[in-house]
Amino acid sequence: MSEIKACIFDLDGVIVDTAKYHYIAWKALANKLGFDFTLEDNERLKGVSRMRSLEILLEIGKIELSQKEMEKLAQKKNEQYVKYIVKMTADEILPGVVDFISELKEQNIKIALGSASKNAVLILEQINLLHVFDALVDGTKVKSAKPNPEIFLKGADELGISPDNCVVFEDAEAGIEAAINAGMRSIGIGSPSNLGKANKVMKDMKGLDFETFIKIFN
Ligand code: BG6
Ligand code: MG
Repeated sequence: MSEIKACIFDLDGVIVDTAKYHYIAWKALANKLGFDFTLEDNERLKGVSRMRSLEILLEIGKIELSQKEMEKLAQKKNEQYVKYIVKMTADEILPGVVDFISELKEQNIKIALGSASKNAVLILEQINLLHVFDALVDGTKVKSAKPNPEIFLKGADELGISPDNCVVFEDAEAGIEAAINAGMRSIGIGSPSNLGKANKVMKDMKGLDFETFIKIFN
């Protein structure tokens, strides 16, 4: 097995639980358009880009709109979402993340962000984690969405590290597929029911230390 030289982290669902804020904002939009949007529906939006999320939402409500109208709605949704994320603090970082990242730093492992979100920098500033990343790839820098490997390959490239020396942390099935398509190993954060293709699945990073991490791939 190739040596691990870098970890690439997804943001939403891996470092912070922003799905709840996306949900409130999408639900408000759906209700305004006259239909309901459930928590189960929200699962379909995880890892998916903002515009694709809106398309799925409109499919659920059986509503067809022009591109221009869709852009307006996506912007409105984002304005509401941002109202929640500007209130975020470091308290919202998911269990184990800060300790695990500090261990990686001590071990000279490079760290990149690989997130579809265009709000990634804002969120990382809010939770005071922006400074830990050696490379940042977010929704403003890529053309193709996961499962396309572009986000992760760009992250590896910015770090100057080969894909087979990278491990991706992801909570979305499309994200694990993107890691596989990039030729990277991966750890799924969440449930094996949808993340089964990852090398290992864990609920969160609580208690994860470097030794245990390395052993996963031995
Ligand atoms: C992903 C989330 O990280 O970012 C998706 O899992 C979200 O739910 C996507 O739609 C885009 O986010 P944003 O912040 O650019 O609307
Ligand atoms: Mg995610």
